[in-house]
Amino acid sequence: MELTEAMRTMNACRWYRSDPVPDGVFHRAIEAARFAPQGGNRQGVRFVIVRDPEKKRRLGEWYLQPWRESYEAVRAGLRSVPSRSGVEKSVQLGFSDVPKSLEDTNQFAERFGDHPAIVVVCVDPAEVHPTDIDLGRLSIVGGASVYPMAQNLCLALRDQGVATTFTTLLVAYEPQVKELLAIPEQFATACHIVAGYPERGFPRRLRRRPVEELAFVDTFGEPLTAEGEA
Ligand SMILES: Cc1cc2nc3c(=O)[nH]c(=O)nc-3n(C[C@H](O)[C@H](O)[C@H](O)COP(=O)(O)O)c2cc1C
Repeated sequence: MELTEAMRTMNACRWYRSDPVPDGVFHRAIEAARFAPQGGNRQGVRFVIVRDPEKKRRLGEWYLQPWRESYEAVRAGLRSVPSRSGVEKSVQLGFSDVPKSLEDTNQFAERFGDHPAIVVVCVDPAEVHPTDIDLGRLSIVGGASVYPMAQNLCLALRDQGVATTFTTLLVAYEPQVKELLAIPEQFATACHIVAGYPERGFPRRLRRRPVEELAFVDTFGEPLTAEGEA
């Protein structure tokens, strides 16, 4: 499919059909995804595609612990939820005004271990190139050697009609996940991508900030416009 179309319609899918995604589809996706850039081209990323029902059940059990904490916090009005414009806002939620997207996300979480496949993205931290570790803040750069490939994987699956959801809540259970899947000691888990054929199709439109709010020219705050000079 056309690249821009894939980028604009690749959502976090909350509803999956039960039929499996064939190995060949994953193989084609990873064949394309592996061309993602990485610091120093060190190539420390690995994928484990989990289809085994018992293993998925365990992953689903673990996922639900941090999810239920987040969910209850949002429902209690302790955390912010995305508003229509995509901007987070803090709201006091009553029982009847929990946003539908939150309820969709909740049922997705409750069925986490039932979705067709969970792709565990692993990386050897010795092979990333974090140039920001001396700045006294959270390092962001290390992830840049992993997540472009994860995003490429999602796009390459989207290209083949497969929907995905990028998740990170389960990373808190890294020791248990590594033991379950025999992931070698030196690897860290970076995210868990749920994959399957969408039960409700792909969205026509995703809620995101307009370009003018997120891209600037020369000075932060000077919006990039479609009719700019260059
Ligand atoms: C870094 C990151 C972590 C995320 N972690 C989770 C997660 O643990 N669970 C989940 O249900 N969705 C997770 N998501 C999906 C986001 O909620 C989703 O991308 C966002 O709400 C936009 O959804 P949309 O593309 O359907 O509009 C994560 C996304 C990103 C980029």
